[in-house]
Amino acid sequence: MTEPALKSFDPAEYRSVVFFAGAGLSAESGVPTYRGHAGIWAQYNYEDYACQRAFDRDPVRVLDFHEVRRTHVLQCAPHAGHRHLAQLQAAYPHIRVVTQNIDGLLQRAGIRVDAELHGSLWRQRCPSHGLRDDLEAGPYRHRQCPDCGAWLRPDITWFEDRVNEAVFDTARRLVAGCELFVSVGTSGVVWPAAGFAQLARDSGALMVEVNPEDNEASALYTHRLRGPASKVIPGCFRLPG
Ligand code: APR
Repeated sequence: MTEPALKSFDPAEYRSVVFFAGAGLSAESGVPTYRGHAGIWAQYNYEDYACQRAFDRDPVRVLDFHEVRRTHVLQCAPHAGHRHLAQLQAAYPHIRVVTQNIDGLLQRAGIRVDAELHGSLWRQRCPSHGLRDDLEAGPYRHRQCPDCGAWLRPDITWFEDRVNEAVFDTARRLVAGCELFVSVGTSGVVWPAAGFAQLARDSGALMVEVNPEDNEASALYTHRLRGPASKVIPGCFRLPG
């Protein structure tokens, strides 16, 4: 059976649009996804590198791991899908972006991100002095707080962490109010972020999935655009004119 022609969507036809991004959006830029044979969790045990217990046990090992990821991400560049999404959002400010990604590639493409659900590789958290950006090179400028000496924890929602409720509230409001919900590159298995697709569907949004493969949440989508983000986003979402 031949694949149906990829439908195209005009964001002007919807009062509100949410693009919901997962690691698959960054895959073609060279940033590894989390699941699948080459995924990060196939190579690293999160209990040693990406949870509070590991950080408390061995902060240097955890910070080393995150510095390797920062350095790698800096060698990656946004692709045609990111660039097209940036143009779409510039033309249609009602396009909002909610991401699970921590790599900052959306921002580097000039995209306004409304909610970073799982934090960022480019931000740290001091238990006493709060958040601090560290947008520089791969290695952190400071591993310990210059004001109090505490280890600076990456501002990332690790496994076993509570999510940032304020960020999730923002995302929930945007998703519940959108008329077009476009998920790009997510396996839809990590909660509570995975619940946004059902929320969008229950709210009556047109459901569009951009992913080369089927996954657990695919049944929620009426339009499953089976292809890579770098091709499908430019090919299926129309700019004005
Ligand atoms: N274009 C679009 N999608 C792609 C591409 C591509 N070029 N390549 C892979 N994908 C899809 C895969 O088919 C898969 O469904 O991207 C998805 C990646 O899934 P995951 O690796 O599970 O990433 P994600 O869904 O973002 O993970 C959610 O899990 O580990 C936690 O906090 C981490 O935010 C992350 C969360």
